[in-house]
Amino acid sequence: MLPELLRERRVAPSILSADFARLGAQVEQVMAAGARVIHVDVMDGRFVPPITIGPLIVGALADQVRAAGGLLDVHLMIEAPERQVAEFARAGADAITVHAEATPHLHRALTAIREAGCAAGAAINPATPTAALAEVAAAGVLDLALCMSVNPGWGGQPFIPAALGKLDRLRSLMSNSGVAVEVDGGVDADNAATCAEHGATLLVAGSAVFGAADPAEAYAAIAHAAGAI
Ligand code: DX5
Ligand code: ZN
Repeated sequence: MLPELLRERRVAPSILSADFARLGAQVEQVMAAGARVIHVDVMDGRFVPPITIGPLIVGALADQVRAAGGLLDVHLMIEAPERQVAEFARAGADAITVHAEATPHLHRALTAIREAGCAAGAAINPATPTAALAEVAAAGVLDLALCMSVNPGWGGQPFIPAALGKLDRLRSLMSNSGVAVEVDGGVDADNAATCAEHGATLLVAGSAVFGAADPAEAYAAIAHAAGAI
């Protein structure tokens, strides 16, 4: 279920920090620099305070990203995410990640994501122990474990250093399971190598890419630092 691109070490630019008036062009820029995983942050104003984007934007980008050989990594920071899985899958998501804290039905949500034809991810907030993902990993319904290294809701926050120890614990929890480990929040060219050393294979970077004067150059620098493709 896990696409090859998500098995590799990759930096995934988060469009949350992109210029939405030029979204297609900004995605094109980072993909020309080598990015293949585009991270989409969906927020509902309930699970996290801000409201961001929905399936319309996923649908607007899907053809462009696929044509360039990439995929859309959709991070749902919404309550009751299982209700929205089908719609995001229809819109063109390739991977859908839900928060363990956002549903009492994590197993069902992950199963629904796979049934919709997508890779199934589960995210944990900084305060949530890695054990929250143990049973779904053991049950074989998880493709992607996302460790938040900031409190979700906003781009541009500083990396929480304790996330490194958590990545270690996630890596050992997921060892031999084929589950990819993703880190999200405050990742930049200075800490990308450390995140990779601690077991992150997919590194999300928003403001460090799209907040830079040249997003393509910034992407390349972070990917290089991470030893990513
Ligand atoms: C935070 C989002 C992140 C965000 C990362 O709630 O899940 O994906 O875009 O942005 P930076 O890289 O700026 O911390
Ligand atoms: Zn995210």
